[in-house]
Amino acid sequence: MFKRFARRLTFLIGLSACLLLTGATNLCPATVDIAFKEANHLQTKYYNYTNGRYNGGSVWTDANALETIHELMLLTKRTDFDGVADNSYIGRHALNTSTDWQAFTGGYIDDAGWVVLAIWTMADYKKSRGEDNVDTFLISAGQLYDKIASNWDDTCGGGVWWTTDHGYKNAITNELFLALSARGYLRTGNQTYLENAKKTWAWLESSGMRTSTGLYNDGLVFGTCLNNNGTTWTYNQAVIGSGLASLAVATGNHTLFQQAEITFDATIKRLTARGVLKESCDDPLANGTVCDIDQQTFKGIWTKHLQYYLTSAANARATAKYGPFLGAQSAAVLRYATNASLDIGSVWYAPNEGGSVYNVKSLPSGIAAHVAAAQYGPCVGGW
Ligand SMILES: *[C@@H]1O[C@H](CO)[C@@H](O)[C@H](O)[C@H]1NC(C)=O
Ligand SMILES: *[C@@H]1O[C@H](CO)[C@@H](O)[C@H](O)[C@H]1NC(C)=O
Ligand SMILES: *[C@@H]1O[C@H](CO)[C@@H](O)[C@H](O)[C@H]1NC(C)=O
Ligand SMILES: *[C@@H]1O[C@H](CO)[C@@H](O)[C@H](O)[C@H]1NC(C)=O
Ligand SMILES: *[C@@H]1O[C@H](CO)[C@@H](O)[C@H](O)[C@H]1NC(C)=O
Ligand SMILES: *[C@@H]1O[C@H](CO)[C@@H](O)[C@H](O)[C@H]1NC(C)=O
Ligand SMILES: *[C@@H]1O[C@H](CO)[C@@H](O)[C@H](O)[C@H]1NC(C)=O
Repeated sequence: MFKRFARRLTFLIGLSACLLLTGATNLCPATVDIAFKEANHLQTKYYNYTNGRYNGGSVWTDANALETIHELMLLTKRTDFDGVADNSYIGRHALNTSTDWQAFTGGYIDDAGWVVLAIWTMADYKKSRGEDNVDTFLISAGQLYDKIASNWDDTCGGGVWWTTDHGYKNAITNELFLALSARGYLRTGNQTYLENAKKTWAWLESSGMRTSTGLYNDGLVFGTCLNNNGTTWTYNQAVIGSGLASLAVATGNHTLFQQAEITFDATIKRLTARGVLKESCDDPLANGTVCDIDQQTFKGIWTKHLQYYLTSAANARATAKYGPFLGAQSAAVLRYATNASLDIGSVWYAPNEGGSVYNVKSLPSGIAAHVAAAQYGPCVGGW
């Protein structure tokens, strides 16, 4: 009797040790602490419970902020921002299966993609808490996904358009469609999603938007379908990677991981200064260039999608390769970009000399860097 009990106890202890090593508890506590302090600052200073929006925000950047704070709660199994999912402007619309998504996103297909990611992450959080209306969220995400898919046509051999005006085919909208399709297939097993993911990667691969540098330019010239040589924004170099990782998991084609890493590596080589991400418009000097309100958020999206890549790849080699870089981003955000009121500025790679912009969009971008580092960065201390 005692022996059996002892054996069971040993088994239970072994099981919990195993969960500690492999489960969501294997996070860096100091970085988690920073991420929650900043996320709490975001919610306290900028989140408006009356309308469910971030004061000064926009639909797509709000979507990224909501995705990030819910990802943080999911990883840590904490509930600090419980209720935000249903209260948010996006959540209120997700709770209504009659929502006019065209009006909601103003015809921007890429914005619809960010909103689907936010709704999925909020639905996952609600599900983890046993909250109501998870299915309603998922139905709404499916409706939005279908709107995106309906903007695919044969112009330039395929691809979805950037807006419902059908004037521009670009990288981000299609990278998002790849990521949503591959992840949607893994979530649901629906073959339509898998077919869409495959055809979107095939199109991206032959689109000419990625050059021999490994980086994606912004998009294609209307009419000629040539690479427009537009800016190689950081976020364009990571959403592709998280999408490819999901497609690799879905298909078992491991070459897709290599394809993703070509572009991650090119980012680290070409879009950094002193080992820290640098958007081409980033400049710490007061008289330098300034990223616009959207561009200020791109670096955090890069870190978030590298984090998703590492989760999908579930590969010690990839984690060892990129973990230190994610840690360095979080450390730079803390050291150079965070001001005494906990706001986070747009420039990460150098101390602010008047040119870094501190606002509701640059803050969640920095938080995303901390969340990614909490999961995959080295654990080396806090504030
Ligand atoms: C919060 O939203 C409400 C409703 O839209 C608005 O009246 C109020 O001014 C907002 N608060 C701030 C601080 O902007
Ligand atoms: C749901 O959305 C529809 C379409 O926009 C709208 O007419 C209706 O009032 C909304 N319902 C609720 C409960 O907000
Ligand atoms: C699969 O997804 C497509 C696109 O969203 C949808 O039209 C179709 O009904 C789904 N099929 C199943 C079996 O759920
Ligand atoms: C983009 O750059 C390449 C290489 O310099 C050039 O051949 C091509 O014409 C450029 N495309 C456009 C649209 O200017
Ligand atoms: C795997 O992906 C690579 C890169 O897109 C592609 O060239 C190759 O044909 C794929 N393999 C299979 C079996 O589909
Ligand atoms: C830009 O600002 C720096 C100090 O922030 C100053 O040294 C430099 O002279 C300025 N350049 C111009 C062109 O004003
Ligand atoms: C930090 O940035 C915020 C947002 O711009 C600003 O309101 C605040 O005054 C700054 N704090 C300090 C100590 O400079």
